[in-house]
Amino acid sequence: MRTIAVINQKGGCGKTTTVINLAACLARKNKKVLVVDMDPQAHATLGLGLGLGGYEYTVYDLLLDSGRKELQPGDVVIEISRGLDLIPSDVMLSAAEPALLGRDHREYLLADVLKSVEQRYDFCIIDCPPNIGILTFNALFACSEAIIPLETGLFAIHGLAKLMETIEIVNAKRNLTITTNALLTMFDRRTRIAYESLHEVQKHLGGQVFTAVINFNVRLKEAVSHGRPVIDYAPDSIGARDYLDLAAEVLKMKVKKIAAARDEEGKEKGMLFSFYAPHAKQVCVVADFNDWQPGRTPLQHVDGSGVWKRFVPLKKGAYEYKFLVDGTWVTDSTNPKVVRSEFGENSLIEID
Ligand SMILES: Nc1ncnc2c1ncn2[C@@H]1O[C@H](COP(=O)(O)OP(=O)(O)OP(=O)(O)O)[C@@H](O)[C@H]1O
Ligand SMILES: [Mg+2]
Repeated sequence: MRTIAVINQKGGCGKTTTVINLAACLARKNKKVLVVDMDPQAHATLGLGLGLGGYEYTVYDLLLDSGRKELQPGDVVIEISRGLDLIPSDVMLSAAEPALLGRDHREYLLADVLKSVEQRYDFCIIDCPPNIGILTFNALFACSEAIIPLETGLFAIHGLAKLMETIEIVNAKRNLTITTNALLTMFDRRTRIAYESLHEVQKHLGGQVFTAVINFNVRLKEAVSHGRPVIDYAPDSIGARDYLDLAAEVLKMKVKKIAAARDEEGKEKGMLFSFYAPHAKQVCVVADFNDWQPGRTPLQHVDGSGVWKRFVPLKKGAYEYKFLVDGTWVTDSTNPKVVRSEFGENSLIEID
């Protein structure tokens, strides 16, 4: 199964439209596809024709149940059409962030859920919310590929650096590379700005941009409000053609099989510290386990990536830490667990 997260913290850039229509086009090409709606707004669920409340369980139940295994993905999956299934969402999912705060391995809950359906599908496409929090991290820890829709226009690449930085951090933590490609959406061929933003995106991302481009097409908007993919609602539209092109490109891509990085990680107890700072000269982890001594535990720069990392063997227990980046103290932005200390906030990890 190829698991693709459709991700951008920027709202309204075409994530959900891409999830619904890429999934439907892949299913049309005889692939078995599972859509996972990881957005409490539940737009993918609605856009695939489900009325809110018309289903018993959501992805929230699966994530919260993860580990207990009382609930199987099969209890939650809804068949939408031939080859296309959905794990729906609803507004309850917004409670996931506080509910999961104290959980171990909370970024891996979705990955664990998806393991049990891996043999049943060719593709899993995950719709992410417009923010970088625990839900988006779960999608990133579960995926092998990411698609970043970018709304063509003046601010297309705004926020892109932060997003790439987040993906790099996840790559460093998982010890793998998520294959990441940007997708230009709402492209208006009649405007110069459309081509300017395409060039800007290509300049920033090099080859990591899909050749397929999604044009602005009102049929896409109509289709979603009718709860149908555009290839059913308006099969002859430009929107249908564009998403079929994208599906063909996705099918042609050569993707590496990703080894289960976490299984290897488990050999030695400890923590892989990582921090994204492309311009820094030195990054250290400063913690109670090194007596808060700056310089004792420097991180190594992973060539050219901007990511600094170091695995620190640690015994069972709870540890407080911060990063020292060229003399500035910062908490770990990828770790939502923090504790207050006399010097402000520290990040907290628990090794069990
Ligand atoms: N290519 C397109 N042409 C015309 N309208 C589009 C296109 N793509 C998306 N839209 C419309 O733009 C709006 C935002 O799209 P969409 O919901 O897919 O974005 P999103 O990134 O999922 O938003 P959010 O961040 O809120 O989840 C919707 O009304 C959608 O119908
Ligand atoms: Mg959306």
